Amino acid sequence: MERLPKLHEAYGNSFKIGAAVNPITMVTQKELLSHHFNSVTAENEMKFERLHPSEEVYTFEQADQIVSFAKSNGMSVRGHTLVWHNQTPEWVFQDSSGGTAGRELLLARMKSHIDEVVGRYRGDIYAWDVVNEAIADSGSNLLRSSPWLASIGEDFIAKAFEYAHEADPQALLFYNDYNESVPEKREKIYTLLKSLKEQDVPIHGVGLQAHWNLEFPALDDIRRAIERYASLGMMLHITELDVSVFAHEDKRTDLAAPTEEMLQRQAERYGQLFRLLKEYSGSVTSVTFWGAADDYTWLDHFPVRGRKNWPFVFDENHLPKESYWNLLKEA
Ligand code: XIL
Repeated sequence: MERLPKLHEAYGNSFKIGAAVNPITMVTQKELLSHHFNSVTAENEMKFERLHPSEEVYTFEQADQIVSFAKSNGMSVRGHTLVWHNQTPEWVFQDSSGGTAGRELLLARMKSHIDEVVGRYRGDIYAWDVVNEAIADSGSNLLRSSPWLASIGEDFIAKAFEYAHEADPQALLFYNDYNESVPEKREKIYTLLKSLKEQDVPIHGVGLQAHWNLEFPALDDIRRAIERYASLGMMLHITELDVSVFAHEDKRTDLAAPTEEMLQRQAERYGQLFRLLKEYSGSVTSVTFWGAADDYTWLDHFPVRGRKNWPFVFDENHLPKESYWNLLKEA
């Protein structure tokens, strides 16, 4: 592997190449990560429930390990994530009598969490996913229902960005979401971003999670999403890229290995995707995979529990797939 061209060097003139890591993969994928990637994101270790399990307790050990792993390998760190409806402990949304926390209490908690976390990593984490997945997938509401929205109101998003900016004025601040290339949701995300900009909220970019598969989304939809967001002068990061070998409607659970056809289509798809992303490298400044190699992916448990998936450009033995060679061709 040492002799393989480094992905992050191949794309050095275009964008950073990142991977989501966790305490296990930092060990089992150490060689691969340090060779090919120059950015990391904590897969779970910087989420609210991990960093702040109860009001008086912060647990930074694993997050710190990720930051020092990055430092010792010369990698940048993206912070993920401060305000989300998932993986946030119950106590955050409760008042002292077990009822629902009101606006002022929840804002105060949001602020102290952000101060503590963003402040701790000032200078080490250059970009934060400040708010994650706040938009409703469908229907007429712009925002999804969540305890943040219910207790604080729509300005919970602006507040989160303001607090993050106060805690680290240098950090790049992102709104991050999935189904980011689906026209209906794209327009809602655009509407949110535009209104934040008009209110002078300190937001610098949009994170496109990019949980994609061999056919979804169509390349044209990805292109339109990129152009739409970039038209606001936003920086774009691809934050959680994976290319599932299963289409949405494919619920097969019996595959022990990817078929040749899947691997071939995946390689073509990766080539097309990176060719497209490179066209927009003036706006797209980072491309992070939600993992690094096929021995570990969250897709093994989502959306079909226990079904193996093979979404990356390195295989289960960390060897390059056809997809890797196509990325080099496009670089
Ligand atoms: C996922 C992790 O990969 C899993 O390990 C965890 O069980 C659930 O969260 N969108 C996001 C990420 O923003 O934080 C999610 O990560 C994947 C979907």
